[in-house]
Amino acid sequence: MKNIILTGDRPTGRLHLGHYVGSLKRRVELQNSGKFDEINILIADDQALTDNADDPGKIRDNIVNVVLDYLSVGIDPAKTTVCVQSALPALHALTFYYLNLVTTARLSRNPTIKAEIQMRGFSEEGLPAGFFTYPVSQTADITAFDANVVPVGEDQLPMLEQAREIVEKFNKIYGETLVLPTAMIPENAVQRRLPGVDGKAKMSKSLGNCIYLSDTAAAVKKQVNGKMYTDPLHLQISDPGHTEGNVVFTYLDALCTDAHFAEYLPDYANLDEMKEHYRRGGLGDGVCKKFLINVLEETLSPIRTERAKWENDIGSVYDIISAGTAKAVERTNETLARVRRAMRINYFEDRSIIKEWEQLLRNAGQ
Ligand code: TRP
Repeated sequence: MKNIILTGDRPTGRLHLGHYVGSLKRRVELQNSGKFDEINILIADDQALTDNADDPGKIRDNIVNVVLDYLSVGIDPAKTTVCVQSALPALHALTFYYLNLVTTARLSRNPTIKAEIQMRGFSEEGLPAGFFTYPVSQTADITAFDANVVPVGEDQLPMLEQAREIVEKFNKIYGETLVLPTAMIPENAVQRRLPGVDGKAKMSKSLGNCIYLSDTAAAVKKQVNGKMYTDPLHLQISDPGHTEGNVVFTYLDALCTDAHFAEYLPDYANLDEMKEHYRRGGLGDGVCKKFLINVLEETLSPIRTERAKWENDIGSVYDIISAGTAKAVERTNETLARVRRAMRINYFEDRSIIKEWEQLLRNAGQ
């Protein structure tokens, strides 16, 4: 069996450090590992429309933002196919068939959908059917590429479970046709969820607690110095401090290496030593924040440089997703053809059904 990755993002905003730590960094590692036969990233604009139908312009604008974010972190179009969901008609057809293999009761039980409905404040009357059924469309995304590995955040596990159920049901009814996908989730807690700079559980645009990959150095510094929480009990430098739940240390956990210490804070060999000192007392928040800003800059400044290059060449960015999408059209159409064959609804693939119908009518006439 081939090793194929499919993952995706809704283009509803620019990507931030949480995305970087939780998924983008890993994608680049997987891309460069040489362990996969195919890597596909889907810009899920159709999925984004399921709760933004009144604002397609927002989705349209963010397609380019998200692709710029991909390219600037090191997604290489020679190794990874980047494609746009709405331009892949096979996905729409597959969704329509899969919708018959789930019940509305099962969809209502999907914990991610439940949480998202609540977050968006949808009433039962106001819930768009497309939004309610997007797990089925996501199953189409995954299976259309024959993906066996789907790198996603932990919140997407129910989507993968749903996908597996649909695949199993399809294969049981129509014969072994679809590949059973597995989720690949981030390895540790910090990767799973980087908190906002204010310590809130998640970075979110509406909370203004993000560090975007496209932020300037000044904006990053401002977020850290102006908004980042440390330890509320650490009032004097000499006070013993807490590193658990201290956002500065959470970010350092996610990003810093021993080389960063050698370069910017040689008093310590590594993060453990620094934490030790902070807990003991005598290490001020100012020093910690300054170090974090240096670490952030080491991470973000190459991304920024790369981004600036692509921003000056949007024509090439367009060509990259246009070529990726054209490739994905072929790829997903092949799966759709296989699915229609399995379902025996491939009426127009060849004329063989004429014989079948003739036979049927002969039998009826006897
Ligand atoms: N639902 C995913 C998210 O919000 C995005 C997505 C769409 C996706 N299609 C996908 C992820 C297919 C993995 C595979 O993050």
